[in-house]
Amino acid sequence: MEIKRIAVFASGTGSNFRTLLEKIEEKYIPAVVSILLTDNSNAGAIEIALSHKIPFKVLKPKDFESRQQFDLEMLSVLQKYNAEAIVLAGYLKLIGAEIVNKYRNKIVNIHPALLPAFGGKGMYGQNVHRAVFESGVKLSGATVHLVNEEYDRGPIIIQRSVDISDLNSPDEIAKRVLSIEHQIYPQAVKWLVEDRIRVEQNRTIIEKDL
Ligand code: GRF
Repeated sequence: MEIKRIAVFASGTGSNFRTLLEKIEEKYIPAVVSILLTDNSNAGAIEIALSHKIPFKVLKPKDFESRQQFDLEMLSVLQKYNAEAIVLAGYLKLIGAEIVNKYRNKIVNIHPALLPAFGGKGMYGQNVHRAVFESGVKLSGATVHLVNEEYDRGPIIIQRSVDISDLNSPDEIAKRVLSIEHQIYPQAVKWLVEDRIRVEQNRTIIEKDL
């Protein structure tokens, strides 16, 4: 199996990034992380990159004259590190159309709810779990999807639900959902780097193991 070079984008703690690195080291995911890209110079994900000797780059949209300049810089970083696919692991910015086009169906994101519910602009982190808690739903979960031009709207690759009827706060939901994320993200990234994700209209078909 050919080893794919992936770029990871993370803005926060990096627990999904860390979990993916463990699965790469276990050879479950045939990939190497060639670059960590972040918009947050204090991201915990940077510490993880440093400890794994993975190069990282901080790119802040506000440091660029325009969205276009930012996207061009992002593209040149991706090319410099020969990234063949992109894994968003707690990255809060929308991915520019140029990058989505160049990496069509090669960018994945994990969302801490069962999309399309509780998704879209502004629905990230605690905002999601607060909305889930206040809605009174008895199930939540996590979704991995392909990234397109709209927040959280790309074809869904994998979802897993979890009973939250015994939980009493958004924080408790966040913790339970995060452990689900750590279970399903490695599976989805494995399928991505093994080129097993086919898209028909808005549905994904996972091709059999090679
Ligand atoms: C996770 O809740 C994920 O669903 C969302 O951002 C958070 C990232 O957490 N996209 P971490 O930085 O991977 O711990």
